[in-house]
Amino acid sequence: MKKIIIAIDGYSSCGKSTLARQLARELHYTYLDSGAMYRAITLYLIREKISPEDEKAVEQALRQITLSFVPDPAGGTAHMCLNGEDVEHPIRDMEVAGKVSAVAAIGAVRRFAVAQQQRMGRDKGIVMDGRDIGTVVFPDAELKLFMTADPEVRALRRYKELKAKNLSVTLEAVRENLRQRDHLDETRAISPLRKAPDAVVLDNSHMTAAEQLVFALNQVAEKCPAV
Ligand code: DC
Repeated sequence: MKKIIIAIDGYSSCGKSTLARQLARELHYTYLDSGAMYRAITLYLIREKISPEDEKAVEQALRQITLSFVPDPAGGTAHMCLNGEDVEHPIRDMEVAGKVSAVAAIGAVRRFAVAQQQRMGRDKGIVMDGRDIGTVVFPDAELKLFMTADPEVRALRRYKELKAKNLSVTLEAVRENLRQRDHLDETRAISPLRKAPDAVVLDNSHMTAAEQLVFALNQVAEKCPAV
C-alpha cells in the first residue's frame, strides 16, 4: 500500500492534534506533534533563564538540546522528550504557552525544528500537525488540511481541556493567550501561519470529532486512492 504524508495546519486549539491522532490510528501511521518540539525548546529556555530576544544565547542553547519522541507508557501517542526527560506534561502549561510563539518566530529555532521534522517524514506514513507543515516542512505532502474554528469555540475547548488537567486558569486568560498566539503565528517574518494553496479547509466549529475524521478519511480516499 502506498504511504503518504498528511500535513495538518491551522490556528491554536482547533483540534488539530485530536484529528491527527485519530487519522494516524485509523491508517496505522505515526502521529507527530511539531508544536511539542517548539514547546520543549521553550521549556529549556525558561529553565535556563534565556530570553528569546538573546538570539546568540538561543543558538548556543540549541546545541545543548536533543529532542525525541518516545512511546507513551500508557499506550497513547508518543511523548516529547527533552534531553531524555519526558516533558509531555510541563510543555503544556500556561507559562510555556505564553512564550512559545516568540520562540517559534526565531530563525535558528525554526531551522533546527524543521530539519528534524523533515527527517522524521523521510519514510512517509506520518500525520504531522503544526503551522507550516504544508507550506514549508512538507510542501509536497500528498494531503494538506487547514483547520480553523470560531475563536470563542476554541477558547472554550482549550479552557475545558486545561481544567480537566486540574490546571488553574481562567477562560479570559485562555482567550487572550489564543488571541496573542494567533497574531504572532500569522504575522511572524519566517514561515508564518498560512493556508497552503492546495490545502483543504476544515472549519470544525460545529463538527464532532467523529465527523471530522470522516471528512479527513474522505479526503484521503479522494486524493490518494491507493492508500
Ligand atoms: O500546536 P501548538 O499550540 O502546540 O504549538 C505551539 C506553538 O508553536 C504555536 O504558538 C506556534 C508554534 N508552532 C509553529 O510555529 N510551527 C509549527 N509547525 C508548530 C507550532
